[in-house]
Amino acid sequence: MKKRDKLLVKICVGTSCFVQGGADLLLYNDFLNPELLDRFEFEGCSCLEACKAVNDADVESKPPFVMINGKLHGNMNSDKLNKLLSDEI
Ligand code: FES
Repeated sequence: MKKRDKLLVKICVGTSCFVQGGADLLLYNDFLNPELLDRFEFEGCSCLEACKAVNDADVESKPPFVMINGKLHGNMNSDKLNKLLSDEI
């Protein structure tokens, strides 16, 4: 088994996430702090099923979703992703 030395970031590219900002998040090379690019491994993934439990009262439960080191985060955008990943290192 291959050993991972970088934390994994999964960017959901299921339909709900893709049309609500996930497509922009795939351009992470353009907006992330370069230091973060070296510390994390990024991959697009199919629907994480979180979009099926959207709660209008909870902005965090809205697409697009990203999973960082196994933890789900909603309502993602470029600034928020930079901050969350910076907090991880
Ligand atoms: S499309 Fe992203 S969680 Fe379903």
